[in-house]
Amino acid sequence: MKRGLYIHIPFCKQKCNYCDFSSFAGQEQRIDTYLQALGHEAALHKEIVCQTLYVGGGTPSLLSAGQIERLAKIIRKNFRPIPDFEESTFEANPESLIPAKIATLRKAGFNRLSIGLQSFHNDELKTLGRVHTAEQFLQAYEAARSGGFTNINVDLMAGLPGQTLVKFTSSLKKLLDLRPPHISVYGLQIEEGTPFFTQGIVCDQVLMRQMLEETDKLLSEAGYHHYEISNYALPGYEAKHNLLYWQNAEYVGLGCAAVSYRGGVRSQNTSVLQEYIFDMENGKTPIVFSEQLTGKAQVGESLMLAFRQLDGVCLSAEQKKWFGTEIERHIQNGLLTRVNKKVKLSTEGLYLANEVFRSFVAPFEDA
Ligand SMILES: C[S@@+](CC[C@H](N)C(=O)[O-])C[C@H]1O[C@@H](n2cnc3c(N)ncnc32)[C@H](O)[C@@H]1O
Ligand code: SF4
Repeated sequence: MKRGLYIHIPFCKQKCNYCDFSSFAGQEQRIDTYLQALGHEAALHKEIVCQTLYVGGGTPSLLSAGQIERLAKIIRKNFRPIPDFEESTFEANPESLIPAKIATLRKAGFNRLSIGLQSFHNDELKTLGRVHTAEQFLQAYEAARSGGFTNINVDLMAGLPGQTLVKFTSSLKKLLDLRPPHISVYGLQIEEGTPFFTQGIVCDQVLMRQMLEETDKLLSEAGYHHYEISNYALPGYEAKHNLLYWQNAEYVGLGCAAVSYRGGVRSQNTSVLQEYIFDMENGKTPIVFSEQLTGKAQVGESLMLAFRQLDGVCLSAEQKKWFGTEIERHIQNGLLTRVNKKVKLSTEGLYLANEVFRSFVAPFEDA
């Protein structure tokens, strides 16, 4: 089974109004010490063989070219040269993805970029609390292409406050004009503790569904493969690292708040930045939570991940034993459907996936 390596960079220029990812604004002065801490943690996992690499955030492109070189050196020294990974993704925000950094990333051997656009409309970007404009995205995208990146993902969001179907569709069409090989479209989730939550913003689920249906229609017509709930790829550009998550494969997560999954044990590092740095400087473990998934919980987790892939699941005897009744109920209700030997989310189930997933997560409902 293949294994992924994830490295978390928890720094952002400004915190967006919807985001509850582990990331901190105004802490750029800590990036150098953080990289040093990452170096210590990487040494603890030295030589674990990983086939895919994902540097995510936060905003990895906030690192300077010199800091990107340092990070690449840590990866090379403790794992393998970056070009030897089957896929190596670096997450970037438009305003900080400048030509000098693109050149450094290519030189280091990264072969994939994931750029967060969210919307092509500057008023929507402002509402989201983004620090870039649509024009800055176009500049960054063109620089990435001319700098040699052919494998690029772009993130869009649907269901934004005040967003109309027409406006969402125009963002999607503008993005389609660029024909990036991979597009992720996420329906806005209002997360507790974010400014959107505090402001009492509520998503119009009916409108959001229309946007996601339009996404499916336009991207399918344009030749994109809808292979995961939120992800579309031109043939051959499906994200290898993310596929490992959905296939319940192992991954090593390095950095503040990073999650690892190895030998059936899921663990998470502290999400307090200073604590992470302190632990790594003092030879302490940064892990604050770990659990061994066994029996029904493990099977449920793997099913929940597997059903995210739209191709569906060829059910094992164990999966049928633990969740056969639930799966049958979802088939009767039209949220899951049988196709040949597989069971997959139906068109309806695609938009009510959380309803299905709830069945696979403890505490389990009585069958
Ligand atoms: C790891 S996050 C952020 C990556 C990068 N810093 C950026 O902002 O572009 C990856 C993507 O998740 C999506 N996302 C983050 N928070 C979300 C939320 N509350 N609801 C829906 N999508 C969200 C955004 O599309 C974002 O680009
Ligand atoms: S969405 Fe991206 S840029 Fe915005 S706060 Fe979250 S991680 Fe940072």
